[in-house]
Amino acid sequence: TRPLKVALLGCGVVGSEVARIMTTHAADLAARIGAPVELAGVAVRRPDKVREGIDPALVTTDATALVKRGDIDVVVEVIGGIEPARTLITTAFAHGASVVSANKALIAQDGAALHAAADEHGKDLYYEAAVAGAIPLIRPLRESLAGDKVNRVLGIVNGTTNFILDAMDSTGAGYQEALDEATALGYAEADPTADVEGFDAAAKAAILAGIAFHTRVRLDDVYREGMTEVTSADFASAKEMGCTIKLLAICERAADGGSVTARVHPAMIPLSHPLANVREAYNAVFVESDAAGQLMFYGPGAGGSPTASAVLGDLVAVCRNRLGGATGPGESAYAALPVSPMGDV
Ligand code: HSE
Repeated sequence: TRPLKVALLGCGVVGSEVARIMTTHAADLAARIGAPVELAGVAVRRPDKVREGIDPALVTTDATALVKRGDIDVVVEVIGGIEPARTLITTAFAHGASVVSANKALIAQDGAALHAAADEHGKDLYYEAAVAGAIPLIRPLRESLAGDKVNRVLGIVNGTTNFILDAMDSTGAGYQEALDEATALGYAEADPTADVEGFDAAAKAAILAGIAFHTRVRLDDVYREGMTEVTSADFASAKEMGCTIKLLAICERAADGGSVTARVHPAMIPLSHPLANVREAYNAVFVESDAAGQLMFYGPGAGGSPTASAVLGDLVAVCRNRLGGATGPGESAYAALPVSPMGDV
């Protein structure tokens, strides 16, 4: 069988792990897919910063030329941000590739248009890594629970802020000190404002709500409040009430089932709730559905290897689809359930 060719866009914390695991697990990946996968090119902004172990002959600064090559089966986009990622992804579809992306901001903002572009060209768009790193969420919600009816999704979906809140709660550490540590551990965004002001969690909430309720939730529809105002006095009051404080993404179906809401804000939760025990940079998503009842998905939600794990899972799925001549669920999987701008806070 001919090898499937993969183009990697971005080789930072996540991209370099994807490349490393593709090499170290090459035989296993080939066995699971039914054909070998070959890294055919790596597009970066700064070639001098590419990590060891990546063949310099594969490295290019011309991402556009790479996605236009025409022989690429799967483009893995781990650049982040809106542009140039968006144009590169649509160009990839137009030139015959399917796409795996870890880009929550882009999927939250333009998921509908990107899915439509994928559908138009009969290609796949997968993004398990965009929400909560390694934790399988997108496919469980979209596929395993497709026959059930999800009513509510409550999530700790930002590792950096959970790390900071946990440190403030358990060790009394200062906000800045905890943020610096989260940054040093590779959890925070390039601009940590996206973490602490809730933009990152809001993007993930929009994606989760869309998938959970089979509708389209735009980023603008998500009410957002960050955690920069939370103080040690707030933790003391929460403790008196048997609670702790977490930055939660809350996605709900209205009681009449006619609309959905999504919001992100700091919330007090009882210490007895499973989400209260999510420590450090871990993420967890609590799902309530008609038939399954309560489910909790828990694990590392940030960092190079965990995020690469989700990217590679998608890579295997997309490669299998490609060999089988099929695609995963596309834009038509989304019915048009109205979205209310904001729920009761
Ligand atoms: N900055 C994000 C976080 C990375 O802290 O959760 C994962 O999306």
